Amino acid sequence: MSLPSQLQGRLSLPVIAAPMFLVSGPELVTQCCINGVAGTFPALNQRTTDGYREWLHEIKASLAEQPDAAPYGINLIVHKTNPRLEADLQVTVEEQVPIVITSLGAVPELVDAVHSYGGLVFHDVTTMRHAEKAMMANVDGLILVSAGAGGHAGRLHPFSFIHQIKQQFNTCVIQSGAISTGAQVLAAITAGADIAYLGTRFIATRESMAQAEYKDMLIQASAEDIVYTPKISGIPANFLAASLEQNGIDLDAAVNPDIDLGKELIDEAKAWKTIWSAGHGSGNIHDSPSVADLCSRLRDEYNATLSSLKPL
Ligand SMILES: Cc1cc2nc3c(=O)[nH]c(=O)nc-3n(C[C@H](O)[C@H](O)[C@H](O)COP(=O)(O)O)c2cc1C
Repeated sequence: MSLPSQLQGRLSLPVIAAPMFLVSGPELVTQCCINGVAGTFPALNQRTTDGYREWLHEIKASLAEQPDAAPYGINLIVHKTNPRLEADLQVTVEEQVPIVITSLGAVPELVDAVHSYGGLVFHDVTTMRHAEKAMMANVDGLILVSAGAGGHAGRLHPFSFIHQIKQQFNTCVIQSGAISTGAQVLAAITAGADIAYLGTRFIATRESMAQAEYKDMLIQASAEDIVYTPKISGIPANFLAASLEQNGIDLDAAVNPDIDLGKELIDEAKAWKTIWSAGHGSGNIHDSPSVADLCSRLRDEYNATLSSLKPL
């Protein structure tokens, strides 16, 4: 186990509710934290840096009277295409956000800035090479975005990925991809992770900002209804097949590198608004509970699974 000291005793379930573009907002974050799970959101879910700061104030105010709440976090896209990075990082440091999740780039200066006030940096990785770069930047943990994850999923099987990472690095391991139940949280921990990272499961909660139609489509979908394609966002990502079809995208064209999609894809933000992402975990999601009910269910499932296990 290498859980950073800032998180020890602060999570009543070893889970981070993952940041999701256009899905995670202050209500989801605060309910997660109050229910013992670290809640997070992408800074870009607010249109401006000032709006981002307002959300942080809202979250801090809601958690002020909750001394036992889990820490919250935010996500920064560390890439030249994100014009807000510098301003959002400045606000992050001024507001002393406890957990910063970085995607795309692992930059030592950013990590130092977050460490200056005692914050943690966890970095998304899909390959060993990304992991090496992130460790060189001195991050506090690696988020292994494995096959079947919602959003920009990797291609590696989690069993193999976790083991390889643990053999090479001594760091906090956060497992991402298709984890929807308490038994699966325990499976990630048993496989060697310190924390499980759940996105898709939290899309279908009462407090998520996803439209009702999106939640319904996700609940109807099985794992086979998830399409992995680079053609929507330029980087391979998982999408609901029904959503692709609803947007006039041919499913064969979406997965066949030799076939053109036949339509010009608009800018990425617009694409994610209408073409809905979800991971293979959708096959295990059949309802849209409150975050409180979901967290309590995950804990019950985790404990029931743990107590059903017997030594050989
Ligand atoms: C709709 C959606 C939006 C996402 N947006 C982001 C994002 O803005 N930043 C990010 O780092 N990850 C994003 N992700 C990835 C999640 O943070 C997380 O890695 C993933 O959802 C975990 O896999 P799971 O969905 O199978 O639980 C997104 C995922 C989904 C489903």
